[in-house]
Amino acid sequence: MSRDVTLALSKGRILEATLPLLAAAGIEPEVDPGASRKLVFETNRPGLRLLVIRASDVPTFVAYGAADIGISGKDVLIEHGGADLYEPLDLGIACCKLMTAGLPGAMDAAGHRPLRVATKYVETTRAYFSRLGRQVEIIKLYGSMELAPLVGLADVIVDLVDTGNTLRANGLEPFEVIEDISARLVVNKAAQKMKHAEIGELIDLFDPAREAS
Ligand code: ADP
Ligand code: PRP
Ligand code: MG
Repeated sequence: MSRDVTLALSKGRILEATLPLLAAAGIEPEVDPGASRKLVFETNRPGLRLLVIRASDVPTFVAYGAADIGISGKDVLIEHGGADLYEPLDLGIACCKLMTAGLPGAMDAAGHRPLRVATKYVETTRAYFSRLGRQVEIIKLYGSMELAPLVGLADVIVDLVDTGNTLRANGLEPFEVIEDISARLVVNKAAQKMKHAEIGELIDLFDPAREAS
């Protein structure tokens, strides 16, 4: 007997990149999730339903088993911790880099006081500077991190960089890469055991390396 599977999608940029992957896998939502206010979608694949969730909440839904499987940015997974999830597949979409950035010379501008770092990735930032052995004061923001060095809120930021347009437009420079980021499939550990066959089939559908049959 086939068991029902719930797949959690990250809304926003990742959803836009995910919809073509769903189409290529032959999965058709009942209505277009990119154009609907619904949060739960049945699909043409029997027993498969989709949830559309704020990107930063996907690991939580999957970790608690509210979704069996999810699509989540590596940045979000690192910040979440990820120890309670399997991560079987890099989907190669929504690619960017998690970086330090700031005004030219900002890494050295703090002198002997702790470097002030604005970010929404508090845990990742703490771990990164701790590895470097550098004292930091972290200021939690929820977006528009690039503004912080311009108005003296922080010396540097930790944020995502893709084209570099946002940094350039604000006179900031990229410094160091902390992680290469892309969207990943994540699986609830209990579901991986209980729904092994169904989840295995889904992972294969998303795997570009799968043999064409
Ligand atoms: P949020 O409101 O959380 O910022 P987004 O849709 O902007 O939502 O981003 C969700 C995810 O998309 C991020 O966690 C990251 O994995 C990826 N992402 C964000 N910004 C970019 C970017 N500029 N280029 C590529 N991927 C990005
Ligand atoms: C993301 C990220 C950077 C920007 C990087 O912001 O936080 O600001 O994209 O992309 P770029 O290097 O191509 O300019 P987003 O547009 O998602 O805005 P947000 O603050 O609402 O998350
Ligand atoms: Mg964003």
